[in-house]
Amino acid sequence: MKVVLAATLFATASAFVPSNAPKFGTSLNLKQDFLEYTPYHDHSAVKVNTYKNKAPFTGKVVSTKRIVGPQATGETCHIIIDHNGDFPYIEGQSWGVMPPGVREKDGKPHAVRLYSIASSRYGDDMTGKTGSLCVRRATYWCPELKADDPAKKGICSNFLCDTQPGDEVMMTGPAGKVMLMPEEDPTTDYIMVATGTGIAPFRGFVRRLFAEDTPAAAVYKGEAWLFLGVANSDALLYDDEFQLAKEQNPENFRIDYALSREQENKNGGKMYIQDKVEEYADEIFAKLDNGAHMYFCGLKGMMPGIQDMLAGVCEGKGIDYNEFIKGLKKKGQWHVEVY
Ligand code: FAD
Ligand code: A2P
Repeated sequence: MKVVLAATLFATASAFVPSNAPKFGTSLNLKQDFLEYTPYHDHSAVKVNTYKNKAPFTGKVVSTKRIVGPQATGETCHIIIDHNGDFPYIEGQSWGVMPPGVREKDGKPHAVRLYSIASSRYGDDMTGKTGSLCVRRATYWCPELKADDPAKKGICSNFLCDTQPGDEVMMTGPAGKVMLMPEEDPTTDYIMVATGTGIAPFRGFVRRLFAEDTPAAAVYKGEAWLFLGVANSDALLYDDEFQLAKEQNPENFRIDYALSREQENKNGGKMYIQDKVEEYADEIFAKLDNGAHMYFCGLKGMMPGIQDMLAGVCEGKGIDYNEFIKGLKKKGQWHVEVY
């Protein structure tokens, strides 16, 4: 039986009510269903690009916290942004952020950068008025200086990781419908493969499936299987939340980590996410055959390794790799958002 993580959540109705959702008043709403469509899995009214570059939304930072340990490679922050219920999104979508200031080269405003939303549509506080981002500071390692060159650090990620409560953030979106969960069949298995901050949409999925008292969570009977690749244990993201979800939903949630700088793959090389997935290839292929949806998010660089690994598994099984992937894409079971 599935158990919800956070039972005592009061949520007031937000200003956002999907056009096809039942209308709720402003009274306390114990069940977390005030941001659902009717039926809850109908995504036809999911909005994209409500706010565009020319008329962005101004969100307000609630908190910015470093969420990795001291030995992590780089700094990753969890940033909660208040949108007052005026910037609805659903799990798997992204927000655009316009960093303040102008480009050195031509004095034009900085381009928008996309960030996958790391919370469910209800936000971490279940009010439906906030959203969270999981952002890694982009740094530039200068080979001549043999150190980070602050003059070449990433503009937007550093802006976000340096924000303080109350700071304003210019935002666009929400963007993307590629990473949504189908939800219609509650027995659907989800296989989620992330490197680094690619975990963001999957944190939203896990919260929706296991931490909230939503119609989707109430009926979910499939298995959600999360693979996360990071450098070492200090670089793990949201591990406490995932462990709790697993403890409370042992039959429906599963996690496997690939710690590239702490573990070795079967050839004695770095344990990358594709190596970890390969360990379970038979089970994963059986699930895909059975209609599972597979998601990839994070480093663009992982995809060639993933594809080589899957092609190798297909060869061993006498399956035509290209046809196999084509079939998954055609049936909407294959979701990729890498950067
Ligand atoms: P930029 O200023 O754009 O710089 C990019 C890189 O170039 C940096 O590494 C910088 O150090 C380097 N650089 C700068 N100047 C020089 C120079 N002169 N010479 C050489 N190198 C230089 N990121 C996340 O952290 N979390 C997410 O959830 C996330 N989700 C995403 C979802 C999507 C769909 C996409 C497309 C991207 C996502 N990203 C995410 C990536 C994000 O959009 C940004 O690309 C990232 O944060 C870097 O942006 P930046 O402004 O900090 O760096
Ligand atoms: P490593 O940095 O040890 O090479 P990041 O910390 O840059 O966000 O990366 C997340 C994880 O993805 C790290 O463990 C990193 O390993 C790993 N990684 C880097 N390149 C690849 C790749 N080509 N395929 C799969 N994983 C990769």
